[in-house]
Amino acid sequence: MKVLVIGSGGREHALAWKISQSSHVKELYCAPGNGGTSSIAKNISIKDSDIKGLLDFALKEKIDLTVVGPELPLVLGIVDEFEKNGLKIFGPRKNAAELEGSKIFAKQFMWRHKIPTAHSRIVESPDQAREILATPEFSYPLVIKADGLAGGKGAIICKSPKKAEETIKALMIEKKLGDAGNRVLIEEYLEGKEASFIVLTDGVKMLPLVTTMDHKAIYDGDAGPNTGGMGAISPSPFIGKEIFNDVIKSIVFRTITRMLEEGRKYKGVLYVGLMLTDRGPRVLEFNCRFGDPEIQPQVLRMKTDLVEILMAVVEENILQKEIEWSQNAAGCVVLASGGYPVKYETGKKIEGLNDALEIPGITIFHAGTRMEGEEYFTAGGRVLNVCAAEKTLKKTMDKIYDAISKIYFETMHYRRDIGAIK
Ligand code: AMP
Ligand code: GLY
Repeated sequence: MKVLVIGSGGREHALAWKISQSSHVKELYCAPGNGGTSSIAKNISIKDSDIKGLLDFALKEKIDLTVVGPELPLVLGIVDEFEKNGLKIFGPRKNAAELEGSKIFAKQFMWRHKIPTAHSRIVESPDQAREILATPEFSYPLVIKADGLAGGKGAIICKSPKKAEETIKALMIEKKLGDAGNRVLIEEYLEGKEASFIVLTDGVKMLPLVTTMDHKAIYDGDAGPNTGGMGAISPSPFIGKEIFNDVIKSIVFRTITRMLEEGRKYKGVLYVGLMLTDRGPRVLEFNCRFGDPEIQPQVLRMKTDLVEILMAVVEENILQKEIEWSQNAAGCVVLASGGYPVKYETGKKIEGLNDALEIPGITIFHAGTRMEGEEYFTAGGRVLNVCAAEKTLKKTMDKIYDAISKIYFETMHYRRDIGAIK
């Protein structure tokens, strides 16, 4: 088979790494890929938003399966375009990807179907926002959410009325996030542990992946602004059997069946971002793709051939395929460029990768890296994902941090408390 992976992050390197191990795969391409994918696949320089370019390439090369990593091409409708042209592609169609593409659509969907989520109000204008904020309906902190893709910057936690006012101005008047600020959500702030609950679905049936926990804030102790994710572990220490079953029944299954009933058959990955509150699990967001960095520890635990699983989803035959997992505890720590998630420099030489990789059991997935000759340079905010999967979480994390001590690039920053459970 010829397989094409779309995207350029740590998630896509992890997917390509697992796909490259499949006995079904003869040729593997990544568009555009990164420094890490270039050693296991052929990188093609087509951007993930260039749907026409990707389609032309897939048709010309007769790609048998395309796997979409990031949300942008899904929200733009890449699946519809590929399917129209008779190509097999893994991911939800445009009208289903709206669950991630529009926070307001997702919120109204949850209201329609009584899916537990934070209390919130849709706001159409700055004046309406001020009116709502002047009443006691929401207390502080509260969350203001832009209605569209914002690369992880669309949910702003406001601890004071001043911050809320500034946020409304930045989103709705100054349009700092473009059209995503035309309408916004004002939302109750939920306390609890966050969990990423990720399933595969063929639109009717589903197959849960092993649970994970992301660490979103930039600094240790969950301090500082949110990022795309600074590290993840699997399994999540906070999802026991009872919560697992509750989430499947009251959230995941209901979402899949109601989407089908609404004529938006949901095929692909359904990622439910949850807050585990003392009133039960509440949905913070839906994503229509694998988590980054959640998929990194997940692929390390996955024993089954990923291509067979993805094909079962595409061919709507999911129950034919059980996923086998290792019982190990997997972890991933992200090495980022200093200044991320705001402003950062790139082009720094990365040293010590080979020394780190000499430690048995260490896997490194690249994110923002670029290969030049035999050397790697930084090329993004999140740069590397150092991963392992050992019998206990402690062994896993000790090994990862040992490997990290061998890696260096100017401005390198990472969290030292990934997997430290409080
Ligand atoms: P979202 O883009 O909606 O997933 O939000 C990104 C991050 O903001 C989440 O992963 C949470 O850490 C935080 N967040 C979003 N909504 C809420 C909420 N209602 N209460 C507390 N934290 C939230
Ligand atoms: N790690 C969070 C996400 O993939 O959305």
